[in-house]
Amino acid sequence: MIAMAQEMDKIVALCKHRGFIFQSSEIYGGLNGFWDYGPLGVELKRNVKESWWRDMITRHDELNVPEGAPTAFSMVGLDCSIIMHPQVWKCSGHYDLFHDFMVDCKECKSRFRVDHVTVAAMIDTASKQPVACETYIHDAESADGLSKTQAKRLNKAVDQYKKEQGGDIDCEEATMSLDAYLKLFDHGAAIPPAGCPKCRGELTAPREFNLMFKTTVGALAGEEGTAFLRPETAQGIFMNFKNVVDSSRVKIPFGIAQIGKSFRNEITPRNYTFRSREFEQMEIEFFCHPDESRKWYEYWRDRRFDWYVRYGLAGDRLQLRDHDPDELSHYSVGTADVEYAFPFLDEGEFGELEGDAHRGDFDLRSHMEGRLVRDESGCLVVEQNEHGQPKYRGSGKDLRYFNDQTRERFVPHVIEPSAGADRATLAFLCEAYNEDEQPDEKGKMQSRVYMKFHPQLAPIKVAVFPLIKKDGMPERAAALYRELKQAGIASMYDQQAAIGRRYRRQDEIGTPWCITIDGQTAEDNAVTLRERDTLEQTRIPIDRVVADITARLNT
Ligand code: GAP
Repeated sequence: MIAMAQEMDKIVALCKHRGFIFQSSEIYGGLNGFWDYGPLGVELKRNVKESWWRDMITRHDELNVPEGAPTAFSMVGLDCSIIMHPQVWKCSGHYDLFHDFMVDCKECKSRFRVDHVTVAAMIDTASKQPVACETYIHDAESADGLSKTQAKRLNKAVDQYKKEQGGDIDCEEATMSLDAYLKLFDHGAAIPPAGCPKCRGELTAPREFNLMFKTTVGALAGEEGTAFLRPETAQGIFMNFKNVVDSSRVKIPFGIAQIGKSFRNEITPRNYTFRSREFEQMEIEFFCHPDESRKWYEYWRDRRFDWYVRYGLAGDRLQLRDHDPDELSHYSVGTADVEYAFPFLDEGEFGELEGDAHRGDFDLRSHMEGRLVRDESGCLVVEQNEHGQPKYRGSGKDLRYFNDQTRERFVPHVIEPSAGADRATLAFLCEAYNEDEQPDEKGKMQSRVYMKFHPQLAPIKVAVFPLIKKDGMPERAAALYRELKQAGIASMYDQQAAIGRRYRRQDEIGTPWCITIDGQTAEDNAVTLRERDTLEQTRIPIDRVVADITARLNT
């Protein structure tokens, strides 16, 4: 794993060059925030999703279970529609609360999230008022910090101010988000004086921007036909809680899982696929008795962290961070994020891979009674409109669970491990990227790029080569290649170029094993198996190859 931020450029270049990830609609100049997965990328991401589904749902009780962890519960799946009844988003809170604050530049028309703009202000230490300020975007893609010109301008403005005031005035630089600056000096209403971070043009006052994509259902125009593309898969699960209980006879505790596309009209999509406008989520809603919810929260938080470690994210690039109490949603007892130090982030910064949240009974109750808010005493109550009626009506359906043993009826508490399939895929890509130096056939040192994917995630597991294109080697190699494919092992056949170059091509796409059929194979019925990471070569009988690879894949 290469630590430097500039290595991200190499990863992005490799992803395009080898067919992992392409910009969407590239021939028309691309569309910001949308990405396509190429032939290798689609296999990698499918392996990420399949590993998640297998480990969390189909074989949750037998594969990769932490020692002593409970296994006696059900996990089932769903595949819900992307567009749902608009009331879903009113009761879930997304209609009112799922927004960012943004400012627009009136000159160059750029749009910025208020919390992504940083203000460097010179403050008069006596009056505590700003004398001058400059803005910049705080992220890895832009110059982080003031440019030389901006620093010069600030100092010049301070000199001018001192001259005008005619005294020996002390000023100090203070750096803060535009958000904080507006609260301190402009009370959130006025136009930020420093202007656009790109062109210094005039900025609009901050405005709310809902992140849900709107669409129209059927032929109805206006509000009546308005619907939204789901911004999370979770709500489809809550919609079907009762259906699943009634149809599959699951008993609490149990989990419902879903993998699917979600859409968010992010104001500033960036950092490659990390913040996209269309992405895939892998979400679980785990329903349990309120008295047991803390225990299950801890169970899922730890189990989900272990999952990333198992597939290769480990060491100080991966962390589990418990949210501070002031970061928690108003209904949450606890939330932890699994975070990864992506190479495009600043040193010491981490990006969220997954949020594991204790959501209490907020979601099911909101869909029963109407959107909930906390009152002054801290209790969750239905939000009311000016007429004292529910602002958003719930379904009115009874979503409580009935325990037929204890005869107890209750609204289950929910633990939600919510992961992003694209972010996990990106983290596995970043972690896998490696460079080293190896001797070529003539003993000359050559630099090598190799993707050290976990074998279960690698898009191609085995590449089969005939050493040369004659003496029956291609026929034997092709037969072995077919045998591997018939056994369900993703394989590739390659007879072009020198063997060293063929190895390098496979290293670059992360194929864990290469098998070469050579002149000796006709005599001893054995082949050479070469390992991607250690470069170790061993001879194995040709009729043991499928069993050998299967065993390696299952360890
Ligand atoms: N149901 C809870 C929920 O949606 P979230 O933290 O907003 O929570 C969960 O999203 C996960 O979805 C994130 O941890 C991240 O992996 C992924 N995700 C969210 N927004 C994303 C975006 N714009 N692009 C790519 N992945 C995103």
